[in-house]
Order: sequence, then structure tokens, then C-alpha cells
Amino acid sequence: MRLVSIVGARPQFVKLAPVARAAAAAGHEHLIVHTGQHYDHAMSEAFFTELDIPTPDVQLDHGGGTHGQQTGTMLAALDPVLTDADPDWVLVYGDTNSTLAGTLSATKLHRRVAHIEAGLRSHNRRMPEEANRVLVDHAADLLLAPTPVAMAHLAAEGLTARSVLVGDVMVDSLEHTRERVGERAPAELADLALPRGGYYLATIHRAESTDDPARLAAVLTALAALPLPVVLPVHPRLHERAGAAGLRLDAGSLRPVPPLGYGAMVAAVVGSAGVVTDSGGLQKEAFLLRVPCTTVRTETEWVETVDLGWNVLVEPGPDLARAVGRAVPAPTAAAPYGTVGAAGRVIAAVEAAG
Ligand code: UD1
Repeated sequence: MRLVSIVGARPQFVKLAPVARAAAAAGHEHLIVHTGQHYDHAMSEAFFTELDIPTPDVQLDHGGGTHGQQTGTMLAALDPVLTDADPDWVLVYGDTNSTLAGTLSATKLHRRVAHIEAGLRSHNRRMPEEANRVLVDHAADLLLAPTPVAMAHLAAEGLTARSVLVGDVMVDSLEHTRERVGERAPAELADLALPRGGYYLATIHRAESTDDPARLAAVLTALAALPLPVVLPVHPRLHERAGAAGLRLDAGSLRPVPPLGYGAMVAAVVGSAGVVTDSGGLQKEAFLLRVPCTTVRTETEWVETVDLGWNVLVEPGPDLARAVGRAVPAPTAAAPYGTVGAAGRVIAAVEAAG
């Protein structure tokens, strides 16, 4: 079978890595198309190298711009790529503009689309990611859901017949990397000389957090006031928006660092006293690594982390410090994101669909 994966943004490279291994192990031809949505070395190429992902067969160049410009130029560029590649299945990942463009191009060209990480919902229609994932789920032919909650969302939208519960491919990536990284402290943070358990790790990059200067100021002020150093890997969007709003990323407890690679990020989470984030993936990684997470958002797609007590949603302000300082929850053996092997189940589900 000939498969084409379309990726473009950092979290998609993490999901692609185990799927590329599983596709190769099953003997399928697998082409990788990179839209260019993320283009800095640290946001893109470094992940391909570290996670041993084959170099993209096609590299496009469509980062930046408004949502419409970005999605539209990717869409136009993908048409000839998919026509030439003539795939049996197109694999798309998550909820970014690259996911939407890939889905639209493939659907219009009558290529079958499998959506990895289908069925997630924040129920917040103002998030660009929510619009992307809803549209993609309704266009795709095969919906590969990570959790029973995601399956229930798909059922509620009348999509059960196309849905398969495969588990979460990020579990595969995390376990693979955790073995490689072990308990080492990340070399990238050596200059900060932080003791194990003596710092918090924070990431802020979503449009809802960064694009309103008042909200961004409130988030940064709350982080800067935390009682331990706060390691802050700085996403390009945060750098850009904080700069434009005249906000400092090194005030108080804040310790800004360049974006981290995947292994360094896993090691930084493991060594931290807690994670504060607006990222989706990091909430789940913190849970899988059993590090308490505080999420600066009004809702989450990963409700299991909250239900199990390992994640708390807060508004920036005094609540944030209270949530971050809470006691570590009781241990749990719960595995809501499934077991290792989701990428193999992705490939098996695509094969079964013919
Ligand atoms: C995108 C995804 C988001 C995901 C995030 C992970 C959408 C709608 N959003 O958001 O769901 O959580 O990726 O990081 O697709 N930039 C650079 N260098 C880069 C990448 C981006 O300078 O390597 C700049 C862009 O030019 C742009 C800004 O950062 O000005 C935001 O990038 P963009 O790709 O539009 O969205 P993200 O915020 O990264």
C-alpha cells in the first residue's frame, strides 16, 4: 500500500515518528510531505533528526501568514503533490492548519484520508484547532481515535461507522524516548544549574494565551511570581507576541530558554516539580510521566488528566500559584491513553479499511 503522511507543525513530528516506523515495519511505501508550517531548525529539522524520522520526500514552504493564507497556499501546493504521489491513503495528524489543508486537498482529489488523533473536542469554537479538528473529522474516511472519550464525541456527531479506537501514538513516542533519555538532566538546562525537583517547567504558545496582550501579561506575571524558577522554552509565537506587547520573558522567576528537543523536554518534565502549560500534548505527557500539571486554559481536550487529579485548569492570577503549589496527587495505574503499540494499530486499521 502507498501511504502519504502530511505534517507541518512540531507536535505532528512527534506523532509521525512511531507511525513511520510502523509503516516501514509493515512493508508499506510511505512518503512524508512537510508543509513548511514550522520552519525554524529547532521547531522542525531537529525533531526529524532526533526522532529518526526519514527526511521528508516533499518539502513545501508555507509557514507564517494569516490562517487563510497559510491554509490556502498549502492547499494549492498539495494538489500536485498528491496527484503525483497517487496514494492509497493520506494520513493526517492532530488539529493544525497543515492537517486541514492536507485533508481538503486529499478529499477533493478523491484520496482516502485517515485522521490520527480524531475525536478530540474542546467545545471552544474560537480555537483554530477546534475548527480544524471538527472539519477534518467530518471530511476524513477513517477516524483513528486515541481514547473512549474521543470515540464518544465522534458517536455524538454521527461518525461511529468510520471510527476506530487505536489508542494514542504519543504514548509510543514517549515510551521510546523515555527509554533513550533515562533519568538524565537535560544538557540544554545545565547553565541554569537547577536541582531536580527545584523548578517548574512552563510553555505558553496558543493563540488564546498570546494574542491578547492583557491576557499574555497576566499569564507571564503569574508565572514570574511563582516561588521556584520557571524554565520557559520560548515558542516563536510567544517570542513575537511578547516582543510586540513589550512584555519581558525573564522577569522574576522566569528563565527563558530556546525551544527544546523532544528528549530534552521529556527530561525537563521528569526533573521538574510541576508543569504549567497551555499545550495539549504537554498536559498528557506530564500525566504519563506522573508530574502534576496546571493548565492555563478554560477547557481541555484531555479531560482524563483532570478527572484523575493530575491536571488542574486555572485562570492566570492567584489561582495559578495555589494550583501549582498543590500536593502531588495519589499514584494511579490508570492508562486512559492506552498502551504502547498505537502506531501499529493505526497501520492495521488502515490495512483493514482496504
Ligand atoms: C501551531 C498549531 C497549534 C500547535 C502549534 C505547536 C495551528 C492553527 N496551530 O501553532 O495547534 O499547538 O503549532 O507549536 O496550526 N514561527 C516561526 N518559526 C517556526 C514556526 C512558527 O517563526 O518554526 C512563527 C510563525 O511565522 C508565526 C508564529 O510563529 O508567526 C505562529 O506559527 P503558526 O505555525 O502560525 O502557529 P503556531 O502558533 O505554531
